[in-house]
Amino acid sequence: MSATIIILGATGDLTARYLLPAIGQLVERDLLDQDVRLVGVADDDHDDASFRAHVEASLTDHAPKVAAEARAAVVGRSSYVRGDVTDPATLTAALAEHGGSPDPVVLYLALPHVLFLRVISALGQVDRPESLRVVVEKPFGRDLAGARELNAALAEVLDEDQVFRVDHFLAKQTVLNIIGLRFANRVLEPLWSRDQVESIDIVFDETVDAQARAAYFDRSGALRDMVQNHLLQMLTLIAMEPPRSLDPQDLSARKVEVLRAVRTLTRDDVDQHTVRARYTAGTVSRNGDTRQVGAYVDAPGVDPARGIETYTEVTLHLDTPRWQGVPFRLRTGKALGLDRREVVVHFRPLEDSVFPGADANELRLELDPDQMWLSVNINGMGDPFDLETVAMGIELPRQAPTPYGQLILAILDGDTRLSARAHEAEEAWRIVEPILAGWADGASPLVEYAAGSDGPPSAVRAPTEVSEALPAAEQS
Ligand code: BG6
Repeated sequence: MSATIIILGATGDLTARYLLPAIGQLVERDLLDQDVRLVGVADDDHDDASFRAHVEASLTDHAPKVAAEARAAVVGRSSYVRGDVTDPATLTAALAEHGGSPDPVVLYLALPHVLFLRVISALGQVDRPESLRVVVEKPFGRDLAGARELNAALAEVLDEDQVFRVDHFLAKQTVLNIIGLRFANRVLEPLWSRDQVESIDIVFDETVDAQARAAYFDRSGALRDMVQNHLLQMLTLIAMEPPRSLDPQDLSARKVEVLRAVRTLTRDDVDQHTVRARYTAGTVSRNGDTRQVGAYVDAPGVDPARGIETYTEVTLHLDTPRWQGVPFRLRTGKALGLDRREVVVHFRPLEDSVFPGADANELRLELDPDQMWLSVNINGMGDPFDLETVAMGIELPRQAPTPYGQLILAILDGDTRLSARAHEAEEAWRIVEPILAGWADGASPLVEYAAGSDGPPSAVRAPTEVSEALPAAEQS
């Protein structure tokens, strides 16, 4: 497939770390033609040649494994438009680069969110190609009013099908697998309700700290950065009713239903069922690598008085017949002791079993590395009437193309299913706003945890001990 990809904010971190490597990987795999045009737009002092050098350096740093030929193709097809991204003249110059070709033209807003409205308004003043797709990164506004305003501005200029409010979690293979697992198998869906499920945890604990991004993070916090978008999107796929089809509208309608069904938290709920915390100095180890992390409040760009959380936990309830009474615990944080990224479905324990006290089954869907497994109790090893809990599961190969690569392919295909539609973004803010308001009012006061620790006391359950895997069958 060929295309013109215009990146507004082409010299920024997102472009270097995620977009350029993804484009390189797509070209390498022939998923994108070598003649794809890449138009970088920013205010920095570049011309085509120096921008190409920048693209080359970014690919060398962040995509060293992409074949040299593919990298060279991306570099060779790059051009630069210098200007203010909120100026219609800049957008006109950038859009002119597609040269009237009927191939898709992507306008990717890899920009601070405060610029989104002004860019959309400028876009309304220029000639737009029919094949235009506009990509808006997160955060989609800072609150419900902001999200509504942005949606209204987008709707004035574009059809909803041209708008991609991307959420790269939707392109992660384990997140995508939720739909197949649930709706392409007979065995799980009959168990997928309050009758059999006791609670569900959606966990995204990270060892990475917020030091390097503190200037951004301190205006966001874990709730806005991770829960409003990524974790609530995961919740929609876990909790949705079967969609009528996999069409974007049908899927989105089911997702919106889930978000609408999330009970609005009262101030008391916020006090009792949310946690907000930030890390103090500590030692974080990852893959044998140990590093000292300073206190969040000492990171450059942080104003401790803002009381921004680097960790949050929120328990939500869905008022639907399927999920009444089942807590959904969402938890995420930075500079924690372990990378734990997973959805855990805790099934109810058995009643009246001949094996009293048997562990309840758990289904774990883990991300990065992607694996899924179901814990089951068996009794055939050792003492025949002693139970052992083992894992039945599979580890999936590393995802390729990367989630950002998948996103770009979907955008070029005009497929909005890896993005949030307008109402999803608004409903997610509807859920998050009362939490922000409660916190601003002093509910659930900010607590601290040491970097490298398990975080503050949490309602999310620690992983159950199981044997690593079923022993290999013996050959007879
Ligand atoms: C981003 C958040 O959207 O997702 C980061 O802003 C977070 O804070 C990141 O670390 C996690 O995603 P991934 O794919 O990089 O693990």
